[in-house]
Amino acid sequence: MKEQLEKIRREALAALEEAQVLDRLNDVRVTYLGKKGELTQLLKGLRDVAPEDRPAVGQLVNETREALEKALEERKRFLQEKAQEMRLESEVIDVTLPAKKRQMGHRHPNQIAQEEVERIFVGMGYEVVEGPEVEYDYYNFEALNIPKNHPARDEQDTFYINDNVVLRTQTSSVQAHVMETRKPPIRIIAPGRVYRSDEVDATHSPSFHQIEGLVIDKKITFADLKGTLAEFSRELFGPDTKVKFRPHHFPFTEPSAEVDVSCFKCGGKGCRFCKGSGWIEILGCGMVHPRVLEMSGIDPNEYTGFAFGVGLERIALLKYEIDDMRLLYENDVRFLKQF
Ligand code: DAH
Repeated sequence: MKEQLEKIRREALAALEEAQVLDRLNDVRVTYLGKKGELTQLLKGLRDVAPEDRPAVGQLVNETREALEKALEERKRFLQEKAQEMRLESEVIDVTLPAKKRQMGHRHPNQIAQEEVERIFVGMGYEVVEGPEVEYDYYNFEALNIPKNHPARDEQDTFYINDNVVLRTQTSSVQAHVMETRKPPIRIIAPGRVYRSDEVDATHSPSFHQIEGLVIDKKITFADLKGTLAEFSRELFGPDTKVKFRPHHFPFTEPSAEVDVSCFKCGGKGCRFCKGSGWIEILGCGMVHPRVLEMSGIDPNEYTGFAFGVGLERIALLKYEIDDMRLLYENDVRFLKQF
């Protein structure tokens, strides 16, 4: 019996030694220590042992069982550690690898230009307001002294929702909204998208942006208009910028003017950029027509005002020296990233 015990012990230990994975350990446990295991079977044979020898043999069996259990535990711990080590090794992260870069977006040149213009006028005490892009014919034309069949409508053909509703052709449409809902003094700019049924080319698009300005108060004169736009131009294009007011016609202003700034490339001498003239046209403006004030409920005998409208794309193209407007709408990040 003693020899049998020795044999079981030797075999079991060898089996443990061979077990390379945790699952195998359980097989070993069942084979040797389980209910039908070899050691248990051997115990059943104890009754054949002479009574005086039983305690010694019993003790031997117990010792063997304890030794096997201990060996099993050790092997288990060893295999667990090994498995853990292998897992850690396979999950190693190389912190020296270059990181994945997240592509950051970029503000659009239009947006940069708009924020620049807003910054300048907010600095002069203006409020930034918005108006609807889908607009009543009344606000886009009528209230601006452009009645039906007025020739000025020809230049601003647009997209019609119905006879009374259009996609606005100019941010001047915000003027009457503001005058109807506020009392002077009024000092606002209104940036936003406008529409015209124009073909796409290097300088035209059926959808572009403008920024409207409107000031109404007592005793506002053309001198205020000139001073304001001269200051705006210097802020936008540099302190040496000069402005020139050329007489023009807009139905909603009287008198009206177009404003040129001295070329910020050549300083006014004439270059390719300003097509040799030394001047670059940037906006339209004028004193608000008394009829426009009146239609929106402001007494022209008490108040006067000025207005101006500037094309945002025009500013962006000039400022960043972009020669084709279409580039602004393609949204190619390689292009946009430059500004
Ligand atoms: N709305 C005009 C346009 O789209 C621009 C303009 C000219 C706006 C003169 C004004 C202004 O407020 O006084 O061509």
